[in-house]
Amino acid sequence: MNERSHFTPFGALRGVLRPPADKSISHRAAMIAAMGEGETEIVGYLDAADTRSTLAAVQAVGARLVREEMATDAVGEGDGLGAPSLRIAGVGLRGARPAAIDVGNAGTLLRLLPGWLAGQPEGSWTLDGDESIRKRPVDRIATPLGLMGARLLAREERLPPLEIEGAPLHGITYELPVASAQVKSCLLFAALLAEGETRVVEPLPTRDHTERMLRAAGAEVRREADTVVVTPAERLAPGRIVVPADFSSAAFFVVAATIVPGSDVLLRDVGLNPTRTGLLTILERMGASGITVTPKGEEGGEPIGDIRVGHSALRGCEVGGADVPLAIDELPLVALAACFAAGTTTIRDALELRRKESDRIAVVADALGTLGGNVRPTEDGMVIEGTGGLRGGAIDSHGDHRIAMLGAVAGAASSEGVEVVNMAAAEVSYPGFEADLISLQHGHPLGDPIH
Ligand code: S3P
Repeated sequence: MNERSHFTPFGALRGVLRPPADKSISHRAAMIAAMGEGETEIVGYLDAADTRSTLAAVQAVGARLVREEMATDAVGEGDGLGAPSLRIAGVGLRGARPAAIDVGNAGTLLRLLPGWLAGQPEGSWTLDGDESIRKRPVDRIATPLGLMGARLLAREERLPPLEIEGAPLHGITYELPVASAQVKSCLLFAALLAEGETRVVEPLPTRDHTERMLRAAGAEVRREADTVVVTPAERLAPGRIVVPADFSSAAFFVVAATIVPGSDVLLRDVGLNPTRTGLLTILERMGASGITVTPKGEEGGEPIGDIRVGHSALRGCEVGGADVPLAIDELPLVALAACFAAGTTTIRDALELRRKESDRIAVVADALGTLGGNVRPTEDGMVIEGTGGLRGGAIDSHGDHRIAMLGAVAGAASSEGVEVVNMAAAEVSYPGFEADLISLQHGHPLGDPIH
């Protein structure tokens, strides 16, 4: 896994892309389909390493993959080509069979699936994964699930492997100590099988795909101010779930086109759930005036639309508080954009970045520093002095998909190019990323109007 990819400077990025299907939504779709009665159709399921782990996991607990084919009319205007359409026969809410589950590199699978399994007294399960997953904390789910009556055993009480002995659960009120959609979602799943109502209080809003999808499957999930309230369910019937393109994947091109002069990129059918698009708010604060969002309605309860991006001169800004969960996976890209801005950008309240696929505070500060940026890591964020650009150099992805893609975008925007060691890590969420990026190197001007 030491292969290297070289990204030379781009004159401009130009062209049209539909980024791959949303990873967060795909994970949830496979798990909720497995909990469902009968067959669920998932249109445009992400075909990447992480979501393949989830498909294998739901099959291990008894769900059946009854049909898989390439969708020709996945989402939006028929250009969702390449995303498979799946049919999954569920085992029902209480029918998961015992299994040893390999979650691979998928933190979302590791944190969400135990919520469903913990309340099934007939079974026992083990979840384990790769070297990186073994460093991802699970006490954040084990503690509240324990309060509900679950029996979970983690290595050193906080790390995988995680053992689950199914047990009867009861509803609780739980204030999340960190704003985490993974922990929230885990508890919402557990709540379906618990006795009595469960209330999950969020310190700040986080992505709400689970709430939307459970509601669409017939569960009683309501929001009261900062609290999500779930009533136990007898059965779920998801029916059909449509997966939009992943905003977090689109984000690499949004930032690339913003920082490379002369760019004009159109990203189609992207999920625009406001709990995911915090990057756009931050870029606007940095003065990005070249971004136009065209909403195109809803697909499967999730707003979608097109994003057109041209270059903008940026200025530094403050990022923290409620920005963080709404842009959690895009903060490395904010740091990159900040290197191209005038003035100082401060990212704070983002300690959670240290608990991702890599320590994204240490790794991003180190990588951008190596490429010529002025980035100082802090305990819970970074301080970036904009220098108007990056020189280039060589960095390691540390096996983290988002760092690999960050390096590629940095290369396209740099003056001398960037070499990325272990670019293959991008496969976790975006197989074909390199080809998509390169396709924008020689693209023609889009002209106007674009649609
Ligand atoms: C995710 C939530 C976020 C995010 C991760 C996916 C999800 O993690 O970083 O990539 O699908 O719920 P946290 O909930 O731990 O912040």
